[in-house]
Amino acid sequence: MYEIIDGRKVAGELREKIKKEVLMLDSKPGLAVILIGNNPASQIYVNLKTKMCKEVGINSYKYELDKDTSQEQLLELIDKLNHDNNINGILVQLPLPKQISQNKIVETVLPKKDVDGFHPVNQGKLLLNEQGLQACTPRGTMKLLKYYNIDLVGKDVVVIGRSVIVGKPVAQMLTNENATVTICHSKTRDLKSHTLKADIIVSAVGKKNLVTADMVKEGVVVVDVGMIRDGDRLCGDVDFENVKEKCSFITPVPGGVGPMTIACLLENTLAAYKMQRGEKFGS
Ligand code: GUN
Repeated sequence: MYEIIDGRKVAGELREKIKKEVLMLDSKPGLAVILIGNNPASQIYVNLKTKMCKEVGINSYKYELDKDTSQEQLLELIDKLNHDNNINGILVQLPLPKQISQNKIVETVLPKKDVDGFHPVNQGKLLLNEQGLQACTPRGTMKLLKYYNIDLVGKDVVVIGRSVIVGKPVAQMLTNENATVTICHSKTRDLKSHTLKADIIVSAVGKKNLVTADMVKEGVVVVDVGMIRDGDRLCGDVDFENVKEKCSFITPVPGGVGPMTIACLLENTLAAYKMQRGEKFGS
């Protein structure tokens, strides 16, 4: 029998904890969320992020910019927010329009306000296993594994996908927790030969039915980070209905990692607020 990893429940508990902590502060943390253009998925995510901020008592400031916004204009806005003491965290929703360099933007947000954990300084800290702001989706994935007491030490973990947002950082976090990690990607020759050996699979590609029942071994833990719109439904990378029967634990889509991403963003905003007031990180 498999157990469903309930991301909604775990995220709800985390938000409650954040809400209580925010209530004790003498001012409210502030998060700036920047959306460029009119990508419908990005619009949904950004609205959800600002709604959840409100729920836990974080002030959110939404900046909606035209799709033709120049890199210069965006850099100017980030510079202004970097210097604004009411803003503790800055999030620029990805993907960005073609005229804007993602790396340039990510490098301009001050590391201490980088609640996405994408800045080279924060990515470097993750590599060094030092405390720093960490990317939200990978962090949410790790929290789910921990919540369900899934042991990582010495386990064979296959991460599918090598994005800067999920694949690479989650592989590093798993390595830091002493798992043996294989990163597979679009050029991997025989994906199935890897996944069949895995104790844990984390799939972060965005391709429907990428992971099927014949590709996994009995008792596997499956974390599905994929998010694909399928008609009016949302689905992940994993053929859930068939794969679940072979699993010990599996995340659904929706209701798995998704809610954890936003809860971790709120947690990072609170951590950034505290850090900027001289409190020790993670306290
Ligand atoms: N687009 C998809 N996921 C993310 C995320 O975690 N942060 C940002 N800024 N953009 C995204």
